[in-house]
Amino acid sequence: MYTPTGEIVARARSAGGGVGAFNVITVEHAEAIVTGAEQAGLPVILQISENAVRFHHGRLAPIAAAARAIAEAATVPVGLHLDHVESDDLFDQAAANGFGSVMYDASRLGYAANLSATAAVVRRGHAQGLWVESELGEVGGKDGAHAPGVRTDPAEAAAYVAATGVDALAVAVGSSHAMASRTARLDHDLIARLRAAVPVPLVLHGSSGVPDDELVAAVRGGMVKINIGTALNSAFTGAVRESLDGNATLVDPRRYLASARTAMATTVAGALRLLTATTTA
Ligand code: G3H
Ligand code: ZN
Repeated sequence: MYTPTGEIVARARSAGGGVGAFNVITVEHAEAIVTGAEQAGLPVILQISENAVRFHHGRLAPIAAAARAIAEAATVPVGLHLDHVESDDLFDQAAANGFGSVMYDASRLGYAANLSATAAVVRRGHAQGLWVESELGEVGGKDGAHAPGVRTDPAEAAAYVAATGVDALAVAVGSSHAMASRTARLDHDLIARLRAAVPVPLVLHGSSGVPDDELVAAVRGGMVKINIGTALNSAFTGAVRESLDGNATLVDPRRYLASARTAMATTVAGALRLLTATTTA
C-alpha cells in the first residue's frame, strides 16, 4: 500500500533501524523493488531521480504514474520519492504527480546558496504536504569520479537544518555514487557526531559501494534512509547479459527482463533484511 516516505522513515527511526530507498529507472525496476520488499515483508521507498526523468524524455508523469500504481497495489508499505532534484520546475511537479517526498539537491552550491535555495523549496514543499530531504557536503560520484567529496560538518549541519526546515539530511560521510565495487569506508565517528547534532533523520547516498558490515554499523550509528541504485543495475544487467549470452536466438524481451527482475528483487530483499536486522542487534 502507498505510504508517505515521512511515515516510513519515522517508523524505521523509532524502531532503531534503517529503510532502503531504491532507484527506479524502468517499470521493471519498480516491480522488482516491490516484489523484493514483499518477499522480505518490509516497507520500501521507490525513488525516481531527475536523471531518470531525463531518460524518459523529460516527462515525469508516465513513470510516476506507473510507480505510484505499483506502490498502491503492494502488500507492504511503499513510499514514492523524487530524488536528486536540481530543477525547481521539477520540484514543483512532485506533489501533483503522486510523490510524498523530494530530495532537493543543491549540494553543488556553496553553503549560503545551498541554504537559501533549499529553504525556499522547503517552504513551497511543506505547503503541498511534501517531506523534503536535502544534502549538505558532497557525496560525489555522480559525475564519475570517486574521490572523497567534502564531508558534512556537524555544527554547520545543525545550523543548516534549523535554517532550512528540511525533514531529512543527506550527509557526506565517505560513500560515493555509482560505485560498482563495495570498497567504501565510512567515517563512523562523523556519523555519531552528526546524529548528535542534527535532529532530523540522516540519509546515506551512494550505498551500493558500501560493504554489508559498514551499512549495518551506519544504521546502528544513526543513518535511517539508505539509498541504493547501482547495486540493482548490476543485478539487472548481469541477468540480462547471462540470458543473452546463453541464447543467441532469444528475441522476446520478456524473457530476459523477467530474469533481470527476479535478480533485482533478490538483491532488494537481501538489502532490506540487512538494514532492518540491525534494529534487534
Ligand atoms: O540517490 C541515490 C543513491 O544515492 C544511489 O547511489 O547508485 O551509488 O547506490 P548508488
Ligand atoms: Zn544519491
